[in-house]
Amino acid sequence: MSSSKNSLSNKAQAWSARFNEPVDELVQRYTASIGFDQRFALVDIAGSLAHAEMLAKQKIISIQDLESIKNGMAKIRSEIESGQFNWQLALEDVHLNIEARLTELVGDAGKRLHTGRSRNDQVATDLRLWLRDNVDIISTTLQALRLAILDLSEKHAATIMPGHTHLQVAQPITFGHHLMAYFEMFSRDESRLQDCRKRINKLPLGAAALAGTSYPINRDLVAQLLGFDGICDNSLDAVSDRDFAIEFCAFASILMMHISRLSEELILWLSPRFGFIDLPDRFCTGSSIMPQKKNPDVPELARGKTGRVYGDLISLLTLMKSQPLAYNKDNQEDKEPLFDAVDTVQDTLRIFADMIPHIQVQAKTMLVAAEGGFATATDLADYLVKKGLAFRDAHEAVAHAVKACVERQCMLTDLNLSELRLVCGLKNRPELIGDDIFPLLTVMGSVQSRQHPGGTAPEQVLVAVTRGREKL
Ligand code: ARG
Repeated sequence: MSSSKNSLSNKAQAWSARFNEPVDELVQRYTASIGFDQRFALVDIAGSLAHAEMLAKQKIISIQDLESIKNGMAKIRSEIESGQFNWQLALEDVHLNIEARLTELVGDAGKRLHTGRSRNDQVATDLRLWLRDNVDIISTTLQALRLAILDLSEKHAATIMPGHTHLQVAQPITFGHHLMAYFEMFSRDESRLQDCRKRINKLPLGAAALAGTSYPINRDLVAQLLGFDGICDNSLDAVSDRDFAIEFCAFASILMMHISRLSEELILWLSPRFGFIDLPDRFCTGSSIMPQKKNPDVPELARGKTGRVYGDLISLLTLMKSQPLAYNKDNQEDKEPLFDAVDTVQDTLRIFADMIPHIQVQAKTMLVAAEGGFATATDLADYLVKKGLAFRDAHEAVAHAVKACVERQCMLTDLNLSELRLVCGLKNRPELIGDDIFPLLTVMGSVQSRQHPGGTAPEQVLVAVTRGREKL
């Protein structure tokens, strides 16, 4: 064994007796995956143990061989966990490294482990086991983020802010209602993730290289031992299917798109132009030149990292495009994009779940912003409609009123009843506007009038939060 445990040792050797010379050094480095597929070490061992257990049950190997394999694998696992394992570039990948060490430790039993198996079905199994574990971790973190959004929404069910379309003030809404829109997005993400998990959780082992095997194997037993819901039904598809990894990256891309939208809003709200929120210093950084700066680096980076996750999805789609059946070495390139998507999503979700509860809302600034921009103009139009005016006429009357207010530099609520009638051009139809209009022209009156499922009224936000809590 080499003394430097952490760097890869590199002893070129001929692949097998069929070969006359060792593989070229650059080719060895080019074709090896051990630099990144070490991450599969523990699932690779789990897959091998289930395979060996089945081989012994089916009397394809002896009970003594199974015991030796189990003992050897226990030793290998502890070597890996303590950083003592000697990973060798010459052994190409995680599968051959572990198998070689097993044979070194337990002799012939180690050489029998690969009976009825190929690295093609082995790597496909590792990929699924590894991704399944990570899907479950991501689901838990996503749940923490959704819970943080629910808590903040509940706290701000009645906090008024301006709602925007075209980034122009549109109508008053509540901050809780705005946040609950993200709860909806992240809930759909969770359901996409669980849907994808179903297709991840099928066993490829038994497909061997591509055509299956002539040994009397029991695939259902292996599936059961590894917690799979069933087996991949076609051996060619089993070794070459990477749909599940693409689906995961599609989930990750949509999730990151949602994160980027939230990030963009946080960045805007944090800008002094809006001044709607503040973030604790630990989520921000300063500038090396401008001492006054406090920059929203976390949401900016999350917005930026969205692009790399899209890149991971496109990499995998392009990798699989036009590949003939069954396994091709191209597939070795599936790992790094998948690892990158998993790591990026997991880190991003963790940091957002930590950050959301600490958003400090500047309710006064939000309220002032909602009161400007004639955000209740639609409420006035709706009022006129309820009094008998056709909607298009009401729309036109309010447009006149807004124009007059802009000229006078005042708000609709600054006008008294006769002024309001006048600027609406309704002087001759006084019955259309009465004193009961004034509560409706306030921003609170406006949001409170939106009392239906999915509406922005504080009571409806609380209903949505309760429904959200039941889903979690
Ligand atoms: N390292 C390989 C991969 O990641 C394992 C499968 C190799 N199979 C083969 N036929 N060369 O895909």
